[in-house]
Amino acid sequence: MSDSLVCVSDYEHQAQRLLPKSVFDYYFSGADEQQTLRDNVAAFGRWCIYPRVLRDVSTVDMSTTVLGQRVSMPICVAATAMQRMAHPDGETATARACLSCHTGMMLSSWATSTIEEVAEAAPGAVRWMQLYIYKDRALTQSLVRRAEKAGYKGIFVTVDTPYLGRRRDDVRNRFKLPSHLRMANFETPDLAFSSKEGYGEDSGLSVYVTQAIDATVKWDDIAWLKRMTSLPVVVKGVLTAEDAKEALKYGVDGILVSNHGARQLDGVPATIDALPEIVEAVEGKVEVFMDGGVRKGTDVLKALALGAKAVFVGRPVLWALACEGDKGVSNVLQLLCEELHLALALTGCRSLKEVNRSLLRRSELISRF
Ligand SMILES: Cc1cc2nc3c(=O)[nH]c(=O)nc-3n(C[C@H](O)[C@H](O)[C@H](O)COP(=O)(O)O)c2cc1C
Repeated sequence: MSDSLVCVSDYEHQAQRLLPKSVFDYYFSGADEQQTLRDNVAAFGRWCIYPRVLRDVSTVDMSTTVLGQRVSMPICVAATAMQRMAHPDGETATARACLSCHTGMMLSSWATSTIEEVAEAAPGAVRWMQLYIYKDRALTQSLVRRAEKAGYKGIFVTVDTPYLGRRRDDVRNRFKLPSHLRMANFETPDLAFSSKEGYGEDSGLSVYVTQAIDATVKWDDIAWLKRMTSLPVVVKGVLTAEDAKEALKYGVDGILVSNHGARQLDGVPATIDALPEIVEAVEGKVEVFMDGGVRKGTDVLKALALGAKAVFVGRPVLWALACEGDKGVSNVLQLLCEELHLALALTGCRSLKEVNRSLLRRSELISRF
């Protein structure tokens, strides 16, 4: 199949053909009118690349570090929940693919594989744990302890989800996990999103979040997390300079500029547009990452030029898993890697250090992309 799948959107179209509708809808959806969902992708087209020439680009070094861990490229895998709906091997397949591509994987708290299974599937790989803060703080702490013990290298704490955004198709589909699956890191059916009573006439996940996730979370809880673990802590879901500065006060080790794949609050900026003011506010004190709408090598180049240390990809990995399991995820990561390599060479950059703001100019004229 891979022969005919040559870019991320090929994988998306193929996955739509293969996945049950309610699963595709859950993976694809953004919040409300999906304005930000469209803009996350479209906004990259409003930046134009101004390449430099005649610079001997016969070798291009794409390796970098993320929170001190060496990765082969500045493209890592974002946390996406419930990957076994896409492929029977779910998160363990993603972990194997990341290992084979020498890049990092962020595991969702809501994975359908356990923290330990994912670690065992890809020993020695670079991985981080995405954390939701539960009302039950002992449970939240136990997720962190398990991640530490299993060799995860950092905690990405999601700060944009005190409630779940309203994803209309999930409401229409009364979205819940297929009965053979559960959120594998939790014991009880209520916490594993596999309650026998069901979740009423709403998106089941939205009901789950209201029941289990702590909507009282505030900056002091970041201090609590920092005291609890010696792992680096990254806040995932910051979109303003003000919050970036607040995060610095609380001693975070990194900021992931993210709008949760446009699944939380519709009408927020595309992440590529939010990135520059955050990079400016942070003044190089901690690493800044971005995710949202990254589908091509040139998108990655633009994010790096605007100051991101690395990008994370969410949906492209799910489409690849649905098409071809771990082989599909390796292929998608590889094709993004090759696209970035070409983009770097064609802009005259021989290493990531040479990528900077001077390569880009705003172009309102190219919204046709
Ligand atoms: C199906 C799906 C599930 C997700 N699950 C989680 C999650 O469990 N935790 C989290 O912090 N973010 C989650 N996200 C957000 C991603 O981590 C990431 O921010 C987003 O997917 C990036 O945008 P992209 O899909 O356009 O690449 C999810 C996104 C999708 C599409």
